[in-house]
Amino acid sequence: MAVNLKELKRRRTFGIISHPDAGKTTLTEKLLLFGGAIQIAGAVKSNKIKKTATSDFMDIERQRGISVATSVMAFDYRGLKVNILDTPGHKDFSEDTYRTLTAVDSVIVVIDVAKGVEEQTENLVRVCRRRNTPIIVFINKMDREGKDGFDLLDEVEAKLGLNVCPLSWPAGMGQRFRGVYSLYESQLKLFKAHGKGEDAETVIFGDLDDDRLETELGDSLATELREEVNMVREVYPEFDREKYLAGELSPVFFGSAINNFGVRELLDCFVDIAPTPLARPAEERMVKPTEDKFSGFVFKIHANMDPKHRDRIAFMRVCSGTFERNTKYLHVRQGKQMRFSNPTSFMAEKKEVVDEAFPGDVVGLYDSGNFKIGDSLTEGEELNFRGIPQFSPEQFRIVHNDDPMKSKQLAKGLVQLMDEGVAQMFTRESDGRKIIGTVGALQFEVIAYRLEHEYGAKVSYEPMSLHKAYWIDEASDPVALKELRARRKNNLAYDTEKRLVYLAESPWMLKMAQDQHEGVIWRDTSE
Ligand code: G4P
Repeated sequence: MAVNLKELKRRRTFGIISHPDAGKTTLTEKLLLFGGAIQIAGAVKSNKIKKTATSDFMDIERQRGISVATSVMAFDYRGLKVNILDTPGHKDFSEDTYRTLTAVDSVIVVIDVAKGVEEQTENLVRVCRRRNTPIIVFINKMDREGKDGFDLLDEVEAKLGLNVCPLSWPAGMGQRFRGVYSLYESQLKLFKAHGKGEDAETVIFGDLDDDRLETELGDSLATELREEVNMVREVYPEFDREKYLAGELSPVFFGSAINNFGVRELLDCFVDIAPTPLARPAEERMVKPTEDKFSGFVFKIHANMDPKHRDRIAFMRVCSGTFERNTKYLHVRQGKQMRFSNPTSFMAEKKEVVDEAFPGDVVGLYDSGNFKIGDSLTEGEELNFRGIPQFSPEQFRIVHNDDPMKSKQLAKGLVQLMDEGVAQMFTRESDGRKIIGTVGALQFEVIAYRLEHEYGAKVSYEPMSLHKAYWIDEASDPVALKELRARRKNNLAYDTEKRLVYLAESPWMLKMAQDQHEGVIWRDTSE
């Protein structure tokens, strides 16, 4: 159905990313409180995947299941509809996070002022930069002693490769943290209360030259703040929205999420500058959100852990037009028509059936096994939305079928779990054996458990010491490729999309193969 421009323009769909513990959950919760989507602090927290319980995978899966409820958190703010897509913080689920990033229009990166830029943040920002996703940085935990502001910005530029432009600057830090000066609004907000969990009381100054600054901050902090803000103005580029939207300039905010300080400044600026739903690339063409015909793609699939209810929920982002309940749409990969009677929206505390959804919205579709990640739905056009490439797994094991009577069930189970994106599977060319690759060790347990309980198949694993998977580009020189196939049979495999993959034992062995087989094009991702 025709696009509803008014609804489209109201949408702001984004994700918050961070290294675990930087404060993503706390920030999400404060944003939801501002939007009135939740009433009490702690509502989001209870759904969070605990970071320590790696031994108890069932518990983590269960918690991951619960987190379906918080997959999308929507709230209204200043007349806009803000959709926050939840990105799991647990490292073992970072592929879920990568995929969710295909469905957002911008991101906020949370960094802990004491820890600086951490590994997972680097990986996630790299994925965003490939897509030129607009990025805002929030430096959190200013109520604690941390790194010097300027040093931290240098670190953000060096490690994340971002050009930064501070839109707020802290007055002091740790015990001396007194507030933030907003360069965006030209306002200093001083922070009165200092208790954890309490909302901050603010005193506002419009001008840093105001004499009351000395009274409020003391001579030394007042001078320091004036000098630092001047320096920020000299050293960093001015904010330029076009550059931000092109992913070329990242505004930076400072604050303390737990104390709710600096959060409203972040949110107010975010709703002013963040992009409305963006166009999305399909293999065939760019799809604009303003197009009249509906289109969308599945970026995440959640299985029900209860074996009695084998249904799954496919999360679909609307890309163009208007999605309507009980309307027939084309499932492009399968070439069949599908109709959805109970499309669901997931909000922080409630789940409801939706009649219509607009570009930027995410809808949960109940699915009995039709969908796989990346699938497109349209009104009839054959569009295949481009996802993000697969990255090499970090751990590999060979699957061993422990119950040969259940081979069929095993094959089906493996295919469905891979469709959900639980792990990657490779089939070795030399002997046809199945190799599973994951980011964390936890997934191996999850897969074995689910194969047994949902499909009745029993597996064990043979350890495999591999460094990384490299995709071999089809455009490689045919002679070199033939030679590679002849000499390196045991290293070659196919992924589930039948793309040729080289499984390298070590960086050294990889280098040797690369040197020996010039003309072969090696890729560290599937694209
Ligand atoms: P995450 O989702 O990124 O993993 O981080 P989360 O929000 O859970 O925050 C991690 C820890 O950091 C939590 O403490 C949280 O209270 C604390 N935190 C968040 N923002 C701030 C801040 O601005 N200042 C300070 N000092 N701490 C902050 P925890 O002890 O793990 O949990 P809890 O017992 O406080 O709930």
